[in-house]
Amino acid sequence: DWTSESFVEETVSSLRQKLGNDKVVMALSGGVDSTVAAMLVHQAIGKNLYCIFVDNGLLRKNEFEEVLHSYEDMGLNIKGVDAKDHFYGLLAGLTDPEAKRKAIGKSFIDIFDQEAHLIEDVKWLGQGTIYPDVIESVSIKGPSATIKSHHNVGGLPDFMKLKVVEPLNTLFKDEVRAVGRTMGISEKILGRHPFPGPGLAIRILGDITAEKVAILQEVDAIFTGGLRKWDLYKDVWQAGAMLLPVQSVGVMGDERTYERVVALRAVTSVDGMTADWAHLPYEFLAEVSNDIINRVKGVNRVVYDISSKPPATIEWE
Ligand code: XMP
Repeated sequence: DWTSESFVEETVSSLRQKLGNDKVVMALSGGVDSTVAAMLVHQAIGKNLYCIFVDNGLLRKNEFEEVLHSYEDMGLNIKGVDAKDHFYGLLAGLTDPEAKRKAIGKSFIDIFDQEAHLIEDVKWLGQGTIYPDVIESVSIKGPSATIKSHHNVGGLPDFMKLKVVEPLNTLFKDEVRAVGRTMGISEKILGRHPFPGPGLAIRILGDITAEKVAILQEVDAIFTGGLRKWDLYKDVWQAGAMLLPVQSVGVMGDERTYERVVALRAVTSVDGMTADWAHLPYEFLAEVSNDIINRVKGVNRVVYDISSKPPATIEWE
């Protein structure tokens, strides 16, 4: 019978055998899978696991600092890399969703390859691949997929030639969470909603600028903070805000305003393949909408997305 305790025990001991004194490099995202995978490898080989957490400038408000601190508290050998300008540079002027994804994938590879080269004599690439990623090869997303789909652009980066270690590739998501719990990883990390690799870039329709990212981060923080405050966070599978490429007329005091529109999106789902819009209480939506319009400069209208998937997708891009 499968138990998370025996999985941890067996996995750690087989990783120890397999890896010996070898060094492993791994990119962490703050998500459940990469974190649990890293903790297993860490338990097996300690400081020989070199973790890299890249700030792509497309994360949620304060996320980079907060997640980096949790990783340090967990004892991981982690390096935070501020690569915001590199990502913004490659994204500049791009509006097509797939072009944005490609630019982000390429930026990530540039940065990760550069960092991996700084580690002397590294032998393995650690990945948080889980079983559904292995079988659903058509719809794989996330850092590993980003790496795979871009490795043919300008030749294979050196880290792609490393041997791969994927301790979670037989597990489903709920099993990964159970393993994480057994290992004492905090609920704050284990209970997190999924967040797309390209981050806020696919929630800003049109081109990306640092200013738009800052606006969306504020809106998103009010929305997701509100979900936690109202104890609705755990009832929703994923939530976020979209910055739309339109302005609309509003009124503030005696003044006519002409400012941005944001759309809030919250869904219920089992695996993200299909989803329903979350039937959030009107009182909650009213409070969040007021907070956003009162507190975020440049936004004068909030709408709530009531489309299900299919035919709509969860993200707008
Ligand atoms: P959609 O929008 O296709 O999203 O209904 C389904 C799930 O996948 C996430 N998503 C992505 N994740 N890279 C990722 O790592 C991507 O390019 C990407 N696009 C969508 C989305 O957030 C949702 O959880």
